[in-house]
Amino acid sequence: MHYYDSANVQTSAEVYRLPASVKPQHYEIRLEPDLKNFTFSGEETVAIEVYEPVNEIQLNALELTIDEVSLSRDSHKLSGKAELDEVNERAILSFDTKVEPGRWSLRIKFRGILNDKLHGFYRSQYKDPAGQTHTIATTQFEATDARRAIPCWDEPAAKATFKLTLVVDQNLAAISNTAIESEKPAANGKKEVTFRQTIRMSTYLLAFVVGEFKATDPVDVAGTPLRVWYVPGKEALTRYGQEVGAFSLNFFANYYGIKYPGDKLDLIAIPDFAAGAMENLGAITFRETALLVDEKTASRAELERVADVVSHENAHMWFGDLVTMQWWNGIWLNEAFATFMEMLAVDAWKPHWERWVSFGLSRGAAMAVDGLNSTRSIEYPVHSPSDAGGMFDVLTYEKGASVLRMLEQYLGAEEFRKGISRYLREHEYGNAETGDLWDALEESSHQPVRRMMDTWIFQPGFPIISVEKGSDGRSIKLSQKRFLYLREPGKGTEQWHVPLMIKAATDKGVSEHKLLLTSAEAALQLPGNLKWVLVNQGGSGFYRVRYSSDLLAGVTAALDQLSPIERFGVVSDTWAAVVAGLAPLKEFFAMAAKFRNETDLNVWRAILGGFAYLDTVVDEQHRPAMQAEVRRLLTPALERLGWEPKPGESELQSQLRGSLIGALGTQGEDPQVQARARELYAKYRNAPGSVDNNLVPAIIAIVAHTGSEADYKEFKEKFKTARTPQDEQRYLYALADFRRPELLRDAMQMTLNGEVRTQNAPYLMMELMMNTECRYEAWAFLKQNWDKMAAAYPENAIPRMCGGVTSLVDQQPDVDQFFKTHKVKQGGKTIEQHLERLRVAVAFKQREIAPAPADLGLK
Ligand code: BES
Ligand code: ZN
Repeated sequence: MHYYDSANVQTSAEVYRLPASVKPQHYEIRLEPDLKNFTFSGEETVAIEVYEPVNEIQLNALELTIDEVSLSRDSHKLSGKAELDEVNERAILSFDTKVEPGRWSLRIKFRGILNDKLHGFYRSQYKDPAGQTHTIATTQFEATDARRAIPCWDEPAAKATFKLTLVVDQNLAAISNTAIESEKPAANGKKEVTFRQTIRMSTYLLAFVVGEFKATDPVDVAGTPLRVWYVPGKEALTRYGQEVGAFSLNFFANYYGIKYPGDKLDLIAIPDFAAGAMENLGAITFRETALLVDEKTASRAELERVADVVSHENAHMWFGDLVTMQWWNGIWLNEAFATFMEMLAVDAWKPHWERWVSFGLSRGAAMAVDGLNSTRSIEYPVHSPSDAGGMFDVLTYEKGASVLRMLEQYLGAEEFRKGISRYLREHEYGNAETGDLWDALEESSHQPVRRMMDTWIFQPGFPIISVEKGSDGRSIKLSQKRFLYLREPGKGTEQWHVPLMIKAATDKGVSEHKLLLTSAEAALQLPGNLKWVLVNQGGSGFYRVRYSSDLLAGVTAALDQLSPIERFGVVSDTWAAVVAGLAPLKEFFAMAAKFRNETDLNVWRAILGGFAYLDTVVDEQHRPAMQAEVRRLLTPALERLGWEPKPGESELQSQLRGSLIGALGTQGEDPQVQARARELYAKYRNAPGSVDNNLVPAIIAIVAHTGSEADYKEFKEKFKTARTPQDEQRYLYALADFRRPELLRDAMQMTLNGEVRTQNAPYLMMELMMNTECRYEAWAFLKQNWDKMAAAYPENAIPRMCGGVTSLVDQQPDVDQFFKTHKVKQGGKTIEQHLERLRVAVAFKQREIAPAPADLGLK
């Protein structure tokens, strides 16, 4: 451990924590933003409790100027001064005399800036149809940016109540966490809007938004008025978000068995927003694509995104807002849980979307990172603010949600729900830790939850379960070992408590088995002679399965007896084994061939995912063979489905049609599909409603893939004049799908020249790094403009943008070298993981592609 030379010797973890000698109880805050000069001024009175005599009071403040400080109690008043410690992001307040224990009232006057980095109290701008620019002032405080707006105890466990007053122009809307209590005229033609006192909550959940917003009429959700807010002109895009908001709010109140903790709920669409959305209690903020949508033209995937995000944030109103993690190492409690609940709510809302099946893709994305040596455990030490920022990754969200789902399926849905409800009631208005959740679940289920879950939460990685037939023919042998793409000597000795769900077919019929594997190996006796066995029945296990070759042949001969998520698992486990070097590439091709008759969207997505990876890794000379294989596999499937929607078909079928067309027209380079897609695009352009919504994204991708300069110009124009956030997003990212270098160069310029919002530019850059036609040029562009990007983009987007390097298979040493000298602030372990993923791809290429240039095991 690392010690600092300071009066109080502190560990490296402790220097980032405020002293425990003083705690806030209640804040009265008055703020006046200046939307012309991008500044604000404020004052606050904080009721604090001092627990021991102190010489100074420390609280967080960043990019603020403090003008006045005083401390009072009854008639006793101490004047003070503030010193700002920029490095530790805090203000140190000192007073004439020592401060004695007890309750005090701390008054601070301060000033700050409305920054353009999409954190703290920041500005967002948009143009109206007449081309006039309008400015909004809004907040994003998670993880540690409330301190940029108000001096405060900016730690999740320092819960307090808040009472806010905003002084704004008469014509502006002012929104915060609670309903408006009073509104009265103020000086200079302004108005003073006072909000009701909040519940006891953490600073990162405070929010205030000021601008020319409009709101829908409220809908009443069991007594809670729920509205959607938008900038003028977008009213027609609000209905869907409001509907799913109302549904999920109700769903959660019932699931948790606790009423909604706020007095109203506003869903607010903000034109510039770093994340997808933020769960401020009662005032959830969103990027526009995650809330505003036109149901008549959006694809099913775009609608699902809105349903997901709205449900996710609503789930947080209880899990996160009412009960909050003690510290940022426990952020998984918030995010994994909200992600899990989001699936439950969307699944309840639209069962035919089969949301738990498509969650298989998210689980796979988590495993792709968690199979690396550079992965981390779900719960992981957090010291500094950038450590906290680095925690919002696929391990927190998707692995976290996966292990919760695995637990829920193991305990039973109702037992699990009861434990959650108990946990929330025990800790409401307070903070909790991971162990508190296991305690509640153990009390409700009477199962050893903690022992099992500790292996998933505190260890990095996950196991691969090997399955073999017992020599008696009536049993199977199971063993576990850590799954790693690159095995390092002496590493990977972890063991898990693995809840195994197994379906076996014997001569006595099909039987189901539940087994907790707690050691390296176990045997399972079966009721008869084994025909085939499927491990990970229901697909909710967070592990990979590797069958012996006879058992693999058995299970792939019984595909018609498996559910879609089980078939998905068979394909994606095979693909993972190939990438890890546990199986040859030709095993994947042979497997894919068995799925010619597959009809499920998500199973196809698993197959297409393998081909997309190959597309990135192979050299130019291998591409024709790859393309031919894609066509051979997909053409019959598309022919079966047809190009025209069939009356009464499920939405998943029309989405599958879109996926198959998209893959054939791009990866497959099928000239007929490309020609037909272009015809459809022409039709769509003249009459947007004339083409099925789920085909449009694929058609746009194909037009870009085969596009000319004229197409590029048209897409760019459509991006700039789009009517919906979804259209804007489609045309923007399609610019990165073109193939001509000069067009792609223009798209690169757009990441920095102000044509693309900084909320999107990093993702456009990422896409360009993944386009095989321009990836190395995009990489050179990124290196050259690194400092500009770091200065312009929201901090949390930089590690994500860097995900693009995973496709730079021919420049791996250069990529490694670059990141040795360029550190990424909220990179956490993410950058290291991108670099290892790139090494995995290079190793794969050397193993599978280099030695067999003539044919890739393709027939
Ligand atoms: N709490 C997060 C937003 C957030 C993320 C704040 C990172 C600070 C740093 C919010 O609940 C969230 O998880 N949003 C997701 C969308 C969700 C549907 C997965 C996001 O922003 O991507
Ligand atoms: Zn969340």
